[in-house]
Amino acid sequence: MGLKLDPWGHFAIESYEKLFKQFGIEPIDNVVDKLPKKHHYFTRKIVFGHRDFDKWLNGLHNGERVAVLTGFMPSGHVHLGHVMVFEELRYYQELGVSINVVVADAEAYAVRKIPRKKVFEYAREYITYAYAVGLDPGRTRIYFQTNSDTTYYRLIQLFSRKISMAEMEAIYGELEPAKIMAAFTQAADILHLQLPEYGGYKWVLVPVGADQDPHIRLSRDIADRYGRELGLNRPASTYHKFIRGLDGNKMSSSKPDYAIFLDDDASTIRYKVLNALTGGRATAEEQRRLGGEPWKCTVYELYLYHLFKGDKELLKLYEDCTSGRILCGEDKKRAVKLLLEVIDGLKARAREYSSVVEDYVAFPKF
Ligand code: TRP
Repeated sequence: MGLKLDPWGHFAIESYEKLFKQFGIEPIDNVVDKLPKKHHYFTRKIVFGHRDFDKWLNGLHNGERVAVLTGFMPSGHVHLGHVMVFEELRYYQELGVSINVVVADAEAYAVRKIPRKKVFEYAREYITYAYAVGLDPGRTRIYFQTNSDTTYYRLIQLFSRKISMAEMEAIYGELEPAKIMAAFTQAADILHLQLPEYGGYKWVLVPVGADQDPHIRLSRDIADRYGRELGLNRPASTYHKFIRGLDGNKMSSSKPDYAIFLDDDASTIRYKVLNALTGGRATAEEQRRLGGEPWKCTVYELYLYHLFKGDKELLKLYEDCTSGRILCGEDKKRAVKLLLEVIDGLKARAREYSSVVEDYVAFPKF
């Protein structure tokens, strides 16, 4: 049976490798050497696949106009999964690339049916943490889907002209009006930076989770059809894995007991991590004899994504675990300690930025 990517579904992708064959996503391996700077997301294959990232990197290398754009749906409180995307953006900003972030408030309101007041509350929190992770407010363009201008909105309407319902359904499956609007709006997000009014960027990279690939495919089809009329080029994309929730499924605000939220207090975090799903054996004796299975462990994943940036310490943990030298209890306690350090640091920085968010971002007025 064919694998289906659903940008609006709650799912965990069983095997990321399947996406290579089925959708033509390229493995990240062959471009890692071309990166101007290494980052553990790439070397650990947390960013595991791409489309035309090599072309984008060539553009960067040759001094052409390159940009990065990604977006967030403000549909819940910020959790560790979001921090990872902010960190990706920070990495690109350090390379000197233009950074653009769209707040998908229209999508949250129309598709997810989040009340407007909540949408803006969440949006404020996301932006604050984006700055806390290290994005420079002065060099980051953040806009809202409902607060843009005519040139951008015009694209949404133009794009609908050359895509048929059959093509939309082939990409997305069953659709409803709100989703069709959201899909064309996202295509405008992805493609508008190429217009002269928005900087005329030639190479635009969209780092996203694999669930967003249908939107990337639609945007690439649209670019092909508007090459002449609007001078559009295909956007590039990278795909990251999702850090799993502490129950082993996708981390999501809809399952708060298994997600780590930035506004969780210390005792909540401690409780959640100490109860997380691990790759440990049934008894301590068995674990010492057989070793643990870190590839099943959600706590190991915390180290992999966020807690151990150096490969040596990560490798040591992996070996200590698989050889049975370290047991889960001890390992979890250390994870709690390191995680609290990371989160306390982010919270402190978020407090610094909470009053300046308004200065940098134009919030819609309705
Ligand atoms: N659909 C994305 C989400 O669910 C949000 C989004 C809107 C986006 N426009 C985008 C992501 C453009 C990347 C690029 O989070």
